[in-house]
Amino acid sequence: MTRRESILREMGLAPLWRLRDSPTGDSPSPPAPLPLAGEGSVEAGAAGEVRLERTRRIAAMGWDELKTSVAECRDCRLCEKRKQAVLGVGELEADWLFVGEGPGADEDERGEPFVGQAGQLLDAMLAAIDLKRGNKVYIGNAVKCRPPGNRTPEAEETAACFPYLQRQIELIRPKLIVALGKPAAETLLGTEVKVGASRGRLFDYRGIPLVVTYHPAYLLRSLTEKAKAWEDLCFARRTMQGLNDVAR
Ligand code: URA
Repeated sequence: MTRRESILREMGLAPLWRLRDSPTGDSPSPPAPLPLAGEGSVEAGAAGEVRLERTRRIAAMGWDELKTSVAECRDCRLCEKRKQAVLGVGELEADWLFVGEGPGADEDERGEPFVGQAGQLLDAMLAAIDLKRGNKVYIGNAVKCRPPGNRTPEAEETAACFPYLQRQIELIRPKLIVALGKPAAETLLGTEVKVGASRGRLFDYRGIPLVVTYHPAYLLRSLTEKAKAWEDLCFARRTMQGLNDVAR
């Protein structure tokens, strides 16, 4: 067990639930290099090679290249209906990373994540734990282009976009990731996730603690769950305090 894990355990915050073939290395910060999406997959032949080559290219990008590449991306059908791709917003080296599902109509229009109604709720949720978009916070999405009709992104779409999210995480190096809703959690953890059953547990994304909570759009429809989201945010804040204590 790492020192960080033992302190988090003392605070009642551990264990870290490991998924997605996470390493158990002793030095979680900086995070271990991510396995490249597609690496180790059974996808055979030329298509697999092309996909791996693309993932490798993305994994070597800096912010400028990433921005251009996402803006020009045509690697899944979500590009067909988008007005623009939405990379993310916030500090480029943030402590907190919030990951949503994908842009909606407002985000597609404005080029920034969470600017519609769900975004207003997210901003209020951030404010409740003394956070603000852009201040130690980065907000991104599992997919960068709006799924038509705001449908849930398909598995191939999140898979195609995952190298971008991986690279964002490598560049941001957040201390804590908050997955907003099931698609974000499943994309990051690489497994089926039930949000209700995952709340209050600390997961591990390649050495970075990750908590799961409800998506703000779901909270808008289901007001009784807001109290649970508040608990989740308090849990996330306690976790961050624990991580900051460990770093001292
Ligand atoms: N919902 C999301 O998941 N992301 C956004 O950017 C907006 C709404």
